[in-house]
Amino acid sequence: MTKLLTPLFALAVACVTGLAYSQSPAQAPVAAPAPMAAAVPAQAPTGAKTVQAKVAVCIGCHGIPGYQASFPEVYRVPMISGQSAKYIVAALNAYKAGDRKHPTMRGIASALSDQDMSDIAAYYELNGKEGARAPAATASREPNAKVAALLQKAACASCHGANFSKPIDPSYPKIAGQHSDYLFVALKAYKIENNPTSGRNNAVMSAIARQFSNDELKALSKYVSSLEGELQTRPQARFR
Ligand code: HEC
Ligand code: HEC
Repeated sequence: MTKLLTPLFALAVACVTGLAYSQSPAQAPVAAPAPMAAAVPAQAPTGAKTVQAKVAVCIGCHGIPGYQASFPEVYRVPMISGQSAKYIVAALNAYKAGDRKHPTMRGIASALSDQDMSDIAAYYELNGKEGARAPAATASREPNAKVAALLQKAACASCHGANFSKPIDPSYPKIAGQHSDYLFVALKAYKIENNPTSGRNNAVMSAIARQFSNDELKALSKYVSSLEGELQTRPQARFR
């Protein structure tokens, strides 16, 4: 399984979905473009792919509430609606370049041009804003003493913002309210070195994550996830 899988094959092997969905995850993205493109006014010249067609493949995972990935362990796929566009592009490029090692997302990101990435990222940034209220300027919940000390130790808020949803640079992620199991997997990934199929190379977050035990990373993930933020999963039906 070290070979780069084609996105569709990877879809079939890398994800499991709730039993509530009758369509298999591998079929959903393929079946989606035609009705969606017809229902939404074209935003691109005839012949060019509309943004709805470009995000059709993403919806099969990121548009299904509670959708779980099974690699490298079972966790909910990250919420990307409401995430900042610059960070989405940065993350997609990191998967494409292999700095974020994740076979499914690498396959998907590798198939996207720079134009595709910026169209998709702009779409998801906006997709979250519609109907969402802006979070308060400070964290919506106080951490307990243990978590407060951990947050203090690495000055998390100095980059991710006092409410963890207003990073100091738009290429940094909003993390408030993100799924805790995903946050935990992401934080652990920054500690992994020299593994061909998992791990994240990011100098800043690697140095930070390595200061903590996995138990501490889990406590941080739980707290950050409990905060009100702007991230959402927007099911397909709502924006058809
Ligand atoms: C087969 C399911 C699947 C599909 C389809 C998919 N993704 Fe993902 N995506 C994931 C998983 C799982 C992760 C978490 C990977 C990791 O642990 O780094 C992820 C991570 C991401 C991230 C990083 C989020 C963050 O908070 O850092 C972005 C951005 C993203 N995907 C965008 C997309 C876009 C855009 C598409 C469509 C072009 C897409 N994904 C299609 C499963 C999927
Ligand atoms: C010096 C700035 C800085 C500090 C301090 C910092 N971060 Fe980050 N964080 C970043 C950047 C930049 C990224 C994006 C890295 C990448 O591209 O993978 C990131 C990514 C993350 C991610 C992955 C988000 C996702 O959607 O995949 C999590 C989780 C995270 N940080 C949590 C924390 C926590 C918890 C702390 C404190 C213990 C912290 N960060 C401190 C800059 C910072």
